[in-house]
Amino acid sequence: MIIGILNSGGDCPGINAVIEGFVSAAYKRGWRVIGFHDGFEGLLPIESGRRYELLTPQGTHKIRAHGGTILGTTSTGNFAVRVNKLGRAQVEPTTMAKAKKTITALGLQALAVIGGNGSARTASLLSEEGLPVISIPKTINNDLCPASDYTFGFQSAVSVVTESIDRIRTTANAHQRIMVIEVMGDLSGWIALHSGISSAADVVLIPEIPFELDHVVECIKARKQAGQREIIVVVAEGARLNGQLITVRNKDNGNERLGGIGNRLCHELEERVGIESRYCVLGHTQRGGSPCAFDRILGLRFGVEAVKLIEQNQFGRSVVLQGLNVGSVPIKEAIAAPRIIHADSQLVRTARDLGIIFGDRAPGSISSVDHTSSTSTDETSA
Ligand code: F6P
Repeated sequence: MIIGILNSGGDCPGINAVIEGFVSAAYKRGWRVIGFHDGFEGLLPIESGRRYELLTPQGTHKIRAHGGTILGTTSTGNFAVRVNKLGRAQVEPTTMAKAKKTITALGLQALAVIGGNGSARTASLLSEEGLPVISIPKTINNDLCPASDYTFGFQSAVSVVTESIDRIRTTANAHQRIMVIEVMGDLSGWIALHSGISSAADVVLIPEIPFELDHVVECIKARKQAGQREIIVVVAEGARLNGQLITVRNKDNGNERLGGIGNRLCHELEERVGIESRYCVLGHTQRGGSPCAFDRILGLRFGVEAVKLIEQNQFGRSVVLQGLNVGSVPIKEAIAAPRIIHADSQLVRTARDLGIIFGDRAPGSISSVDHTSSTSTDETSA
């Protein structure tokens, strides 16, 4: 039996672990694996030769430790799902026909697609066309589907951000500055929330909890008046400043992309609090480098689970992590809604008890633990 695998959309730590697990489990069953280059584009024929290769256990052994992807990927191209006038996601029929022709010509019995929301939508369309597809969720944002407690890439990103904030804190302390750190997350705040807790940030601003700048300023002033030297503010790229998403125009393709709130927020705080402030955009450092142990193991497990689903002829499904177990749900269920933070969740309540400021005026958001003296300060008393 011969099966295929590709990855599409943004890269992230752990993709190679998925590929290694998939190839290892397939060969244990006497199957062969073809890896397609640069996302779904690898399914399209080109004059200059093929855009796929035979993957073997020897060729993929230990790639679990490597960031990026040995197959290459793309976030654009012919398969970027477009929504038609009826609001239905579609891929050009001629493109779809070419993909089906390649899959048939190679005699593939199944195709595993490693990807984020857009790629999973494309996988779902291929599945609706009758192709034997398995989807494997991939994003550092951890926002892909409510059905998966974690996606690989997320813990690695949180580790990079945590280490970066620890470094930034030393200079913030030396200069008694406010440091604003902008992190990825698209329209979710998972990276900001987890890294804010792990690095003892003072303020965590996320899309799911609208914040009032005046309240953030009051809280920071209270901590400065209590003698705190440095202030650490973590802001998710999808958080809204005065209700507005901050975006940058991408010169080459003209698309608006999230980014820039760190800069804007830094200048607002410097002006209103009256303290030297700087900002740092961690950007693609959150997507690069070797995956942490958790993501290597989760990626390998996802790859093996995909082979088991193929063995059981369970197509049109997405691999997920539920609690400690890897399982699967229909692809459509996996992409039905993003996985976002609930303001009354246990983790947010814990963060508030640790003194993290979310900038809202929800109950429990006003008491702050004063780390510089024995009494605790009430932020509104300032
Ligand atoms: O979706 C993951 C993500 O890292 C977002 O958080 C970020 O805004 C985007 O991808 C960046 O994408 P690109 O690689 O196209 O710049």
